[in-house]
Amino acid sequence: MKKAGVAILGLGVVGGGVYKILTDKREFFKKTQGLDITVENVLERNVERALSLGIEKEKIATSIEEVVSNPNVDIVVEVIGGIEPSKTFVLKALKSGKTVVTSNKELFAKHWPELEKAAKKTKAGLFFEATCVGGVPIIRTLIDGMQANDIQSIKGIINGTTNYILTKMTYMGYSYEEALKEAQKLGYAEFNPTADVEGFDATYKISILSSLAFNTKVTIDKVYREGISNVNIKDINYGKEMGYTLKLLAIGKKTNSGIEVRVHPTFIKSENPLASVNDSFNAVHLVGDSVGEIMLYGRGAGDLPTGSAIVSDIIFALRHEDFYYTPFRNEEDDKSAKFQSDFNTRYYLRLTVQDKSGVLTKISGAIAKSNISIMEVKQTSFVEEGKAEIIITTHECYESAMRKTIDKLSQMSEVYSVDGVVRIED
Ligand code: HSE
Repeated sequence: MKKAGVAILGLGVVGGGVYKILTDKREFFKKTQGLDITVENVLERNVERALSLGIEKEKIATSIEEVVSNPNVDIVVEVIGGIEPSKTFVLKALKSGKTVVTSNKELFAKHWPELEKAAKKTKAGLFFEATCVGGVPIIRTLIDGMQANDIQSIKGIINGTTNYILTKMTYMGYSYEEALKEAQKLGYAEFNPTADVEGFDATYKISILSSLAFNTKVTIDKVYREGISNVNIKDINYGKEMGYTLKLLAIGKKTNSGIEVRVHPTFIKSENPLASVNDSFNAVHLVGDSVGEIMLYGRGAGDLPTGSAIVSDIIFALRHEDFYYTPFRNEEDDKSAKFQSDFNTRYYLRLTVQDKSGVLTKISGAIAKSNISIMEVKQTSFVEEGKAEIIITTHECYESAMRKTIDKLSQMSEVYSVDGVVRIED
């Protein structure tokens, strides 16, 4: 039976999950995989935490050097997160020829080419299933299951924290602040929730996923990012009345003008399968030219779901002699790829305007002048004396045209304010 030793760097939620799966299922992996996998080292400052998980004292390393020089360690699992010291640790492991398995999406989104170069040099494996969508095997699907396809689009709900918050706002009528507080109480949102609620986490993930989908390095500066902290419950409710559900969608698309990648609150039709992905669940919808549509659904975070992705990478690595790397030129500045930043989409607008005759005509006239075609207009119920609230949805137009139009509308004396702008994906 093939024996293999693993080191775990960081024993937080995910590290604990990896340790638990590997130890609880040692016999199961012997039987199902013909592999005897043991944890040979952990690197964790909080020794109490390591001991409480049942790890023997002599396996708790005090430095990365100790880990990478341990001949019993074949695979190093990095689950610390953030850039440093993770980057230094991962590079040291790769330099020593150890295969690395990581869940670190920020490190991967920002430094993937450098890590891959280091791995190639020593022919070490570099695996990252757990960087995106936790337990959902999206990376392996893209690399090993979609080779016959020119992928047209990838759309997903890839951040559980924001999906939980939006679900509570949509179905329980919570304000953003109330929903965030509850997410923090349940441990879904961090004390400082910025990375999740401002869309950074989803940006890292869609940068990795769309690189694989479109065979070019999509750096994070190519991703348009807007979070959910300005989402107003009013827009969620008006959207519902019009048959839309609001989600923080990550979108990668191949268009005639280039690749466009974005993360922002988005109205999708309520019958779209992504609309029923609720609470902290994640889902990814892919369209390939051969296979058509594929959708994967599951838990994007948590100790055992993310641990599941990491352990599947460990087993995959142990079952392959030669490792392969990204199938595309993984460079920061791949000039052969064309990107489109001025994307084309539909819009929902909410305006507070003067409640008097002729105002609607003036507003729709201003929008028409910008060559933007209106799809639906509706005036909501009474706001306050002399003021009316108007909802407008448009056909597809360029983002730049819409921004100019919003500026124009804001300057009109009949318009008090443009209060809501939401993109619509049909
Ligand atoms: N913070 C992430 C989320 C989980 O809320 O989905 C880890 O990627």
